[in-house]
Amino acid sequence: MRRPLIAGNWKMFKTTGEARALVNGLKESLAGNNGVEVAFCPPFTALAAVAELVAGTPFQLGAQNLFWEDEGAYTGEISGLMLKDLGCCYVIIGHSERRQYFGETDEQVNKKVKAAFKHGLEPILCVGETLAQREAGETEQLVKTQVEKALAGVPAEAAQRIVIAYEPIWAIGTGRSSSGADAGRVTGLIRQTLAALYSPELAGKIRILYGGSVKPGNIEEFMAEPEIDGALVGGASLDINSFTGIVLYNTD
Ligand code: 13P
Repeated sequence: MRRPLIAGNWKMFKTTGEARALVNGLKESLAGNNGVEVAFCPPFTALAAVAELVAGTPFQLGAQNLFWEDEGAYTGEISGLMLKDLGCCYVIIGHSERRQYFGETDEQVNKKVKAAFKHGLEPILCVGETLAQREAGETEQLVKTQVEKALAGVPAEAAQRIVIAYEPIWAIGTGRSSSGADAGRVTGLIRQTLAALYSPELAGKIRILYGGSVKPGNIEEFMAEPEIDGALVGGASLDINSFTGIVLYNTD
């Protein structure tokens, strides 16, 4: 049985004071949790503050990026060693915004995935197609290639701890989400890719999330899909009410 995971990707939002207020509010509103694992992924600057607030709670901490070296003359970068030291459990890798604005390649994503595993962090690997790629019928091949390249050289013991987020780029921050059925189809394809790379048994253990305009009003549609094990939430994770509505999707 895969435990559902709902992770909030705060992107470049929230000062430390705002981060504290959001987490304190969510600790109250999510007190009666429903079996869903919840992770907060604040910007680097708020990780320490959020780490303090979630220590000893069921909430997990995640970062939004890492560099693949442990230390060195890499101005502006942050390593897996440092994230682990701060109490991170997860790290988002290969988000489409990083691929698009910072030129991250599949090869770099692969190095980052390996660095995360080296430090006991669980990568939340993001894959997904642009609108043009979707319209050209390239979604399946692209997503398959992204998964294969990200996991190149990653042994099965590590790979079984990865989380994959299918985030169609045209659905991110646009209010235009994928349909549950379509997201379920692509996540199913990702699981088949994992089964071919490793084994059906291992693929059955890996959590695959959907991301892209997830809100309280559409989360149930995604969670109803057997291949979808949770969500990576952007904009709606920045607000207490909307994130609570998403996490508690199956309670009245
Ligand atoms: P939105 O939920 O704002 O569409 O963002 C999705 C996302 O990119 C999560 O990583």
